Amino acid sequence: MDATLSTSFAGRLDEIAAETDALLDRLLSDKAAAGEIARPARLIEAMRYAALSGGKRLRPFLLVETAALFGVPREPALMAGAALECVHGYSLVHDDLPAMDNDALRRGQPTVHKAFDEATAILVGDGLLTFAFDLMSRVETHPDSNVRIALVSELARAAGLGGMVGGQLLDLASEGRFGGARKQTEADIVKLQAMKTGALLRFACRAGAILGGADAAALAAIDRFGAAAGTAFQIADDLLDVEGDTETIGKQTGKDAAAGKATLVAALGIDGARARLAQMLAGAESALAVFGAKADMLRAAARFIAERRS
Ligand code: IPE
Ligand code: IPE
Ligand code: MG
Ligand code: MG
Ligand code: MG
Repeated sequence: MDATLSTSFAGRLDEIAAETDALLDRLLSDKAAAGEIARPARLIEAMRYAALSGGKRLRPFLLVETAALFGVPREPALMAGAALECVHGYSLVHDDLPAMDNDALRRGQPTVHKAFDEATAILVGDGLLTFAFDLMSRVETHPDSNVRIALVSELARAAGLGGMVGGQLLDLASEGRFGGARKQTEADIVKLQAMKTGALLRFACRAGAILGGADAAALAAIDRFGAAAGTAFQIADDLLDVEGDTETIGKQTGKDAAAGKATLVAALGIDGARARLAQMLAGAESALAVFGAKADMLRAAARFIAERRS
C-alpha cells in the first residue's frame, strides 16, 4: 500500500473527500471546455453551490477503494468518482424541490432552490447529470474506450428509469400522490429503496471493479457487497430521519412519517429496521470474505454506513 495514504477509515474518507472536492472545484470552472460555447455565471455558481457543499463523498470513496482492491491508482478512480458524485448531487437538488420532498435545508445550508430559485435548481440538476457523462467518458477515466462505454452504460442504467429515477417515482407514489395508494409490502419497499438509493451505491462498487478489470467472480462478490451496502445506507437514512438531529445531519428530520413515505422504519418499526440493518451489514461483510484483509477499507465503510450519525 502507498505509504502516503491514510490507514484509518476516517482518515481515508477525509482524504478522498478532499481530493474529490479539489477535482470538482477544478472541473466546475467558469471556463468553457472544448465544444462548449459558454458557462453562464449563474448556472456555474449554482452548480458549484450544489456540488461543493460538503457531502460525505461516500460514493467516490466506495468507487476509489473498490478500484484500489484491483490495483487501480487514485487519479482515474477519482475522475469516475467525481462523475458519480455529480449524478448524486443532481439527485439531491431535484429531490429537495418543492414538487418532490420540498426541503429547505441540505448539508446544513439552504437547498439550491432556496438559495437561487426553482428554475435554476432544475437546470443545476440537468447540468450536473449531463456533466457526469462528460466526465465518465473522458480518457482520464480509463484509456480503453470499451471500459469507458461499460461505465457510461452502467451509470445510465443505475441512475435512470430502472434505477434511481424510477425509485424516486416509486417513493413519491408510496405517499399516495398519484392516486391508487395501496399498502406497501416489505418487498415493495425493499425494491423502491434498492432503486432510489441502492443503485448508485452499488454502481460505485461495480465501477471500481470494472475500472480494475475484475473477473466475473470478483465482480459478482463486489456486486453483492454493493447491493447490501446500498440497502443498509437507506435504512440508516430512514432511521436518521426519525432519530437524528438536524444540527448533525444538516437536513430537517421527521419528514418521512409526516409525508407518509414507505420506509422500513414505517413497516418494521425502529427495532425491526435496526435488525434489518444488522443483517445487511453482515451480508456486506460476508461478500468481502474472498478478498481477505485487502478489503478492510470496504469493511470499515460498511460499518460506517450502518452506524453513521450524519
Ligand atoms: C443522502 O445521501 C441521500 C440519500 C441517498 C439517502 P448522502 O447521505 O450520501 O448525502 P451527502 O452527499 O453526504 O450529503
Ligand atoms: C433520496 O432519498 C434519494 C435520492 C436523492 C435519490 P431521501 O429523500 O430519503 O433523501 P434525503 O433524506 O432527502 O437526503
Ligand atoms: Mg426523497
Ligand atoms: Mg429527500
Ligand atoms: Mg431521507
